[in-house]
Amino acid sequence: MALSTPTFILQAILCIYFVLLPSFAKLQRFQHQPKHDGSLSFLVIGDWGRQGLYNQSLVATQMGIMGEKLNIDFVISTGDNFYDEGIKGVNDPLFKQSFSNIYTAKSLQKQWYSVLGNHDYRGDTIAQLNPLLRKIDRRWFCMRSFTLNTGIAEFFFIDTTPFISDYFNEFEHTYDWRDVSPRKNYLNNILKDFEEALSKSTATWKIVVGHHAIRSISHHGDSPELLESLAPMLKANGVDMYLNGHDHCLQHISSKDSPLVYITSGAGSKAWRGDIKENNVDEVRFFYDGQGFMSVQMTETEIEFSFLDVFGEIIHNWRIQKSLHSSA
Ligand SMILES: *[C@@H]1O[C@H](CO)[C@@H](O)[C@H](O)[C@H]1NC(C)=O
Repeated sequence: MALSTPTFILQAILCIYFVLLPSFAKLQRFQHQPKHDGSLSFLVIGDWGRQGLYNQSLVATQMGIMGEKLNIDFVISTGDNFYDEGIKGVNDPLFKQSFSNIYTAKSLQKQWYSVLGNHDYRGDTIAQLNPLLRKIDRRWFCMRSFTLNTGIAEFFFIDTTPFISDYFNEFEHTYDWRDVSPRKNYLNNILKDFEEALSKSTATWKIVVGHHAIRSISHHGDSPELLESLAPMLKANGVDMYLNGHDHCLQHISSKDSPLVYITSGAGSKAWRGDIKENNVDEVRFFYDGQGFMSVQMTETEIEFSFLDVFGEIIHNWRIQKSLHSSA
């Protein structure tokens, strides 16, 4: 069939459009050099920004002490970085009041790799993702979804808020869905990119970070959307650990049908004491409903992680080992 010139031009434009389009959706990839011996240590904190209140400052102090002890390489934030409604713009004073002025210890002057939580989506998300914030505090590194390769471990950060249907049917709060709509495309692209990135990864350890829990026995419980769309992908691709916040507690749950471990570190400030559900089919190894954070040390063959409370006490400690020559 011969094409008329206008049809041909239109098709050419569409073709260029579709060839270029996926590259926008591709996960951005970053690298972080591990220590000289290839090992890595870092802290994980979630649900924190409250201008120091609700023990945020106490947690920050203990993070500084542990950060120094482990000579940490970076900090991971599982989201809900600024309460109650994210930040209003790049010049919002909350950024300094809840971040720069709180985590002041020398050991915490490292890169903070961060995702957005649902509370961040109630503010100006584009401002919180704006690299201009790094001019105010160069530690800040927040993106919707990205990967971070450190040699022995690859981290996959995923923007989970748009997965949760409730936020789209809620009228009490407004969410900043700019750059997320149309939702269906957005979610499909993330899942496709994640599947590709996870399956191609050759790192010994694969760690996925999101705000919402896949599995939780606390206030919000499991996220059915993530259980359905994300969990099978993580299990199929040999992911070792899923780190999240959202529930204001520290918990460690082992998946019964795979080596995947679910960790909640969402106890950076306000805690929800006594809010526990017993609806879990996987194995709950530890649960703490006060404030605290997580520390992690990794080598090629072992991950050791701990939960610490506001007094710096190690309240839970666990090791995961991997044989160097296993095919996993
Ligand atoms: C701060 O932590 C202490 C010790 O866990 C606890 O007793 C106190 O209730 C906490 N304060 C707040 C505001 O959560």
